[in-house]
Amino acid sequence: MAIINNGKTFLLNTADTSYAFCINPQGLLRHLYWGRRIVHLQDFEDIREPGDNGYYPRVDRTMEEFSSFGMMRYKETAMKLRFADGVRDFRYQVADTQIQDDMLTITLTDEHYPVKVELHYQVFEADNIIKKWCSVQNMGSEKIVLERLYSGVYGIPGNGYEIINYNGQWAAEFKRSSESLNGGKKVFESLRGSAAHVANPSFIVHKNASEDNGDVYYGALEYSGNFKVTAEATPYDYLNILIGISDTDFAWVLESGETFIAPAVYSGYSDAGFGKMSHTMHEFAINQLAPKVLAKKPLPVLYNSWYATIFDVQSKNQMNLADKAAAIGTELFVVDDGWFGERQDDFRALGDWYVNEEKFPNGLNELIGHVNHLGMDFGIWIEPEMVNKDSDLFRKHPDWAYQFPNREILEGRNQLVLNLTREDVLQFMIDFIDRLLSDHNIAYIKWDMNRAVGETSLDGEDIDEMKEVWVKHTQGFYRVIDAVRKKHPNVEFEACASGGGRVELGAMRYFDEYWPSDNVDALDRLEIQENYSLIYPIKYMRAWLIDPSEDKRKRQVPLEFHMHCAMCGSLGIGNDLNGLSQDQLDQIKELVVSYKDIREIVQFGRLYRLCNYKKDDIQAVQYVKENRTVLFVFLIHMKYDKEYYQVKLKGLHKECIYDVEIHGKHLKKSGAYLMNHGIEVKFAGDYSSHLISLVECQA
Ligand code: DGJ
Repeated sequence: MAIINNGKTFLLNTADTSYAFCINPQGLLRHLYWGRRIVHLQDFEDIREPGDNGYYPRVDRTMEEFSSFGMMRYKETAMKLRFADGVRDFRYQVADTQIQDDMLTITLTDEHYPVKVELHYQVFEADNIIKKWCSVQNMGSEKIVLERLYSGVYGIPGNGYEIINYNGQWAAEFKRSSESLNGGKKVFESLRGSAAHVANPSFIVHKNASEDNGDVYYGALEYSGNFKVTAEATPYDYLNILIGISDTDFAWVLESGETFIAPAVYSGYSDAGFGKMSHTMHEFAINQLAPKVLAKKPLPVLYNSWYATIFDVQSKNQMNLADKAAAIGTELFVVDDGWFGERQDDFRALGDWYVNEEKFPNGLNELIGHVNHLGMDFGIWIEPEMVNKDSDLFRKHPDWAYQFPNREILEGRNQLVLNLTREDVLQFMIDFIDRLLSDHNIAYIKWDMNRAVGETSLDGEDIDEMKEVWVKHTQGFYRVIDAVRKKHPNVEFEACASGGGRVELGAMRYFDEYWPSDNVDALDRLEIQENYSLIYPIKYMRAWLIDPSEDKRKRQVPLEFHMHCAMCGSLGIGNDLNGLSQDQLDQIKELVVSYKDIREIVQFGRLYRLCNYKKDDIQAVQYVKENRTVLFVFLIHMKYDKEYYQVKLKGLHKECIYDVEIHGKHLKKSGAYLMNHGIEVKFAGDYSSHLISLVECQA
């Protein structure tokens, strides 16, 4: 049974984990346990309560399942609200507990004020994931202002943990940061109106864990707006972790009867290091969160002409590229930025979503027909949330962009952000995307967002109501993408935000893939891809080949190395195909054929991060699905003439015999040999790489 309880103690069990909390003698919701499975409920009775002390009260000493500012709580708390008379603490009692199948709801009410907080839990037993979210309802007649509401609180006993998150920026997403938590608070936050590149709305907490060993506690938020992750090493020998909407510029006014629902957080525990965490999250994301229509379908190999033509998009040059893209085996041809309005550069025309007649004298359908005739689907780029000052849209509706009175309006990448709290703006966005998809045979949309949200103003005089703007903005974004997807359920949507600014579970609900970074340097990508893969699934990780010789300042790596790197995710090609020799095109074509053969394994298989080039000189990534395995190995720099590296595989059946295709030969090796002894891989100098494929041939 997923949820066991005796009215006081609640034990939430998944296949491999347990999560326990109770209503303690003081009526507090006390967190008791998170870890390996323990199914005996009585084990959690008679657990000593922390003592009380004037300066260090029990509410702070207790690992609480939910906490509210006030009442002599000085730690980071899940909620802060304000009643009409100025009282700002919430003194709760557990008013009700409800269990229905895999769902548990705990209702908290205040001892005096008419407010109801509900804590919701859903146990995904087979997936080893627990979903948490909470809501606050005003049950009275006077307004209540919410000033903070995290989605989930987690307590982990002990001290000296490390938290993994990211310290990235544009073209440097997923730069891993690992911080020791020995005292005080560590905060990861976005105030940019999206998850953005700097940090991620997730947490990974551990003590000396490795890929295969150690306890790892993790969670990821389903939200595409401002977020905050706070990890507080308390003096009371436990870690207090909170994740949810950022409270930095947040407020929500609850009028009589109104409810605010915080976004969900999905959390899990691994007793076998980061590897098991990634397997759990990857499989859960695809099985439970990804939009159903395309969730189980492998992504097509795409060609995107952005780097080939930048803003010089013309029907003719696109048709020419399409011929070449089809010849190398790509299945989806994508026209990026530059096809609409007077878009000659990034200074103008965002918002003018009509086909540029000079660039496409016979309309877009001529190109689409050509692409379809070549056997490929057609895709296109849009950036719906933005507008340029130099656009018909802004000239007509200057008030549609966020701006503060008495302030000069600020531009980012020469553009402004549309006010997504306005109905007319949302309708405009829904209509233009719907029209684009209805009038053309478009199979894929790349949805971009190239600047952070700012100057978020709302009409009115109530400062609390104004601070609702960030959440309302995110809700507006969801309204648009939801409406469009409902109307066009078979169209594939990619979430791009100037690279990886929208890699999070809120976007996953509506998108079929992410563009994780504009950085396509092969070596940087190995790092970005490894760190991305901790939480987020491989299918969602679009990875492109871009001609390494295009930018001479950049590292020159062989095409095969680059291609292998891109084949570690959902493959795309972004080269100027006119700049490649026939030999290079043939080589790409051959590798595209290999990729199509292995893509189910890469996109849906279990990922094993075997070696990391910073520690092991080589990077090795393995994917296992049913009876097949693929392994990518990369040598960065040859050292001391060392040609051979031993790579130990993982996740195989030790008794099975595998046919190993390596260096043009077929070897027969047992799973036990491959995992314990390893295979010897020969490298041919700097930046050499291999794709090695294995299949079970005998049980
Ligand atoms: C930023 C994206 O990340 C790029 O791939 C490209 O689509 C440009 N925007 C186009 O403006």
